[in-house]
Amino acid sequence: MEKRNDLPARYATEEEIEKQREYTKKIANMIADGTPKKACVITYGCQQNEADSERIAGMLHAMGYEKTEKEADADIIIVNTCSVRDHAEQRALSITGGYKHLKAKKPSLIIGISGCMVSKQAPTDKIKHSYPYIDFTFGTEKLWQLPEILYHVMTEEKRVFCPNEGKPITAEGVPVLRENPYKAWVSIMYGCNNFCTYCIVPYVRGRERSRRPEAILAEVRELVADGCREITLLGQNVNSYGKEFGGECDFADLLAKICEIEGDFIVRFMTSHPKDASHKLIDTMAANPKIARQFHLPVQSGSNRILKEMNRIYTRESYLDLIRYMREKMPDIAISTDIIVGFPGETEEDFEDTLSIVREARYDMMYSFIYSKRSGTPAAEMENQVPEEITGKRFPRLLALQNEISLERNLVWENKVLRVLVDGKSKNNPEKYSGRTDGNKIVLFDGDESLVGKFVNIKITKAQTFALIGEIV
Ligand code: SAH
Ligand code: SF4
Ligand code: F3S
Repeated sequence: MEKRNDLPARYATEEEIEKQREYTKKIANMIADGTPKKACVITYGCQQNEADSERIAGMLHAMGYEKTEKEADADIIIVNTCSVRDHAEQRALSITGGYKHLKAKKPSLIIGISGCMVSKQAPTDKIKHSYPYIDFTFGTEKLWQLPEILYHVMTEEKRVFCPNEGKPITAEGVPVLRENPYKAWVSIMYGCNNFCTYCIVPYVRGRERSRRPEAILAEVRELVADGCREITLLGQNVNSYGKEFGGECDFADLLAKICEIEGDFIVRFMTSHPKDASHKLIDTMAANPKIARQFHLPVQSGSNRILKEMNRIYTRESYLDLIRYMREKMPDIAISTDIIVGFPGETEEDFEDTLSIVREARYDMMYSFIYSKRSGTPAAEMENQVPEEITGKRFPRLLALQNEISLERNLVWENKVLRVLVDGKSKNNPEKYSGRTDGNKIVLFDGDESLVGKFVNIKITKAQTFALIGEIV
């Protein structure tokens, strides 16, 4: 698959951004006929995609569309897709398949697909031919041009397909409709240069490119002034933030500048690649109480041989050294990870190495995935693909081990008081309220609506595997 390494990114010019604003106004005039129009945005995939969906929703809102959660009520539906595993693609395709009937009932309905799945030409062509009721698609790098794309769909009554192509362009000033007034995603960079051999992301998100620090700081300042209490900085590998600025502002510098903004808020970030997570970053965290005591550091495997095959660059030893340094500087830090089970060629011994690194690292939380073959990535061509019977047996062993460790890590907090940002009624326990600690652990307690979006102190009375139970003090 084409790497498009030779295409340095650039920033959108003010004229280009203004052009999108003009298309937005034209659409607003076209749809304003006295009946409110509704837009539904469906999201699959990672936090980057959630942040992108908030920008898609923001652009649609600026055109005059009201937000709806119900596809059947919508005048426009956009499905923002993920390609990281086959399952995610299949789900997006199957939900989109269901819209055929909606369109049959309401022919004026406009349906679009965005995101990672339609960033490449071949899957875009597949949609074009197999899903005739899809009006338009746009890849991740074309997101900011949605007003222009939609205008062509609406005025020329033709289908428009825009996979990523040409130079990736980073655009500021795209409107955002945020889901939560107290917690915000802030993308600080786009793309990935790492080409881990199993991963589709670099092919669908393009090369790494950072937003200017001034733009990020202005966004965070505005969010904090509006009462936002938690900012999560997003990038596929935030540790390589600012590489193109030649030492002017790296990720640790950016964090330190964000912490200078006045106000009662915390900053989180994800994701970090272990090869780039520096001592400077860890020292900056330790020195700044506004930075949450949480670190998501995907290890993927505990076997040095597999890490090499994955092109992860670090070793289990250097990874564990990093974790030791973090815990030395911040003893109460919560560490989480991602692990892939059944990468091609993974032997029982390699898998045992993964179990042993989980035991040594003692993660607070783990996201584990069975390897999914992504066509076009180097790992898809590797011999010794691990059969499902084996991955199916390994996976629950890993989960059982992590559950034991999660509980042990949570038990440490019993009888201690933790500061918690209140989210609202718990989805799983509707009689309780739910919030998150600095370490991003879920806490359940008796509360009320007036506490939503506020920090409260909670004494932990009971620890469970996936949550802490407590009472307000
Ligand atoms: N940029 C982030 C996250 C990438 S995608 C990072 O590098 O950590 C999130 C997770 O999905 C990855 O960490 C990896 O564990 C998993 N993943 C990626 N490709 C996969 C594949 N082909 N099969 C199974 N899991 C995969
Ligand atoms: Fe994928 Fe690796 Fe990039 Fe993460 S760092 S997005 S796993 S290629
Ligand atoms: Fe999926 Fe794209 Fe994120 S492939 S995991 S939505 S970057």
